[in-house]
Amino acid sequence: MTDQRLLHGQWSSRLAFILAASGSAIGLGNIWKFPYLLGENGGGAFVLVYLACVVGIGLPIMMAETMLGRRGRQSPINTMAALAEEAGVHRAWRYVGWLGVAAGFLILSYYSVIAGWSMAYIFKMGGGFLNNVTPQMAQQTFQDIKAAPDVQLVWHTAFMAATVLIVSKGVSQGLERVARLMMPGLFLMLLALDIYAAGTSGFSQGMSFLFKPEFSKLTGESLLVAMGQAFFSLGLGMGSIMVYGSYLPDHVSIGRSSIFVATADTLVALMAGVAIFPVVFSNQLAPGMGPGLIFESLPLAFGHMPGGSLFGTLFFILVFFAAITSAIALIEPAVAWLSENRSLSRVRASIYAGFACWFLGLGTLISFSHGASVTWFGKTLFELVDFITADLMLPAGGILIAVFAGWIVKKQESAQELELGSYFCYWRILIRYVAPLSVFIIFAHAMGLL
Ligand code: TRP
Repeated sequence: MTDQRLLHGQWSSRLAFILAASGSAIGLGNIWKFPYLLGENGGGAFVLVYLACVVGIGLPIMMAETMLGRRGRQSPINTMAALAEEAGVHRAWRYVGWLGVAAGFLILSYYSVIAGWSMAYIFKMGGGFLNNVTPQMAQQTFQDIKAAPDVQLVWHTAFMAATVLIVSKGVSQGLERVARLMMPGLFLMLLALDIYAAGTSGFSQGMSFLFKPEFSKLTGESLLVAMGQAFFSLGLGMGSIMVYGSYLPDHVSIGRSSIFVATADTLVALMAGVAIFPVVFSNQLAPGMGPGLIFESLPLAFGHMPGGSLFGTLFFILVFFAAITSAIALIEPAVAWLSENRSLSRVRASIYAGFACWFLGLGTLISFSHGASVTWFGKTLFELVDFITADLMLPAGGILIAVFAGWIVKKQESAQELELGSYFCYWRILIRYVAPLSVFIIFAHAMGLL
């Protein structure tokens, strides 16, 4: 055990863990993905289902996953193997770790391409190209980037290189410092955007779109998407938070830290929604336009507010930081495993894993331009990879983690780890029954079985 700790390093404090875990949770999922998914899925009802999934499924699984990590103290694959052995259950449980590593690779491969878009926008904003922009110009700017694989390749490569550089430095050094600055900055910037949005003509329409549920707009697939987004945004089901838990000192309360992280994550997603939809409606944009939503709408807000190009530049810099602290979490399980089992140095392990993600990402990159007409089940490669990871692999990993933590880990041990006091019985009910059954029912419903 001691060896693993030396190999991994440990968070220096409770605050360091909270920063890192929020860094993993808060990312493109909150600022880019949540708004466009809720736009595509009809607004308020989607938001409600999402919130229910965060509280009833996500939060208990976040505690469970962190706890398993701290008990195992290794990469997710080895942690699951060790805990299964300790509990006397089948070794096949270690495949939960493998499922996670695979999901992390696939997610990061496209995550990096989208993060590349936000890097491109740092320079668009900074160069003043989007001052006083019209909705048509904002749309054109985004379409131009989407249609240019060479430009995206440069940014995708730069983003993966930056990720590898930080990951190779180890958990506490590179990461803690970045997260400490980024989080408060992002929060303030979103607040400023929300205040701006409150003064636009589309504000009330935007707010009722966000917060007035129309359940007739919910389909089986949108339930699945809302649940997948809860896993994605909290960063659950693939070992990210498990590996962070493995660096967590024993005295930190997992229960309280998880509640904090889940609250911060949800708040940031909602604040992004409040910033974006009023601008969308003020400019007669389509809320369901898909992955381009923030890139076509936010420049309109920045382009018309005083000091907009400065704020816009800062905003996309912060989005870049938010993305990179999540990217690190996505790749960390693989890097931890490579350095434990293949005795590679962290530097080498990071380079290999980063290269693999970069390579996979080329597929996504092409799927936005030349490959846009290549589809499977009506989905482009990007949409397919996103669906398989967020909506299938993460919830499946989440169920397995819930079952392991709720049914295999001894009650007394989990009570001790989580330190939830009298709330512990609620966690037990959620993790043993509510979370696995809800995921199962939503799967079945989406497949048309229920
Ligand atoms: N939660 C991050 C975001 O919202 C992305 C992320 C980090 C993630 N770790 C993860 C997604 C693990 C799924 C699983 O941008």
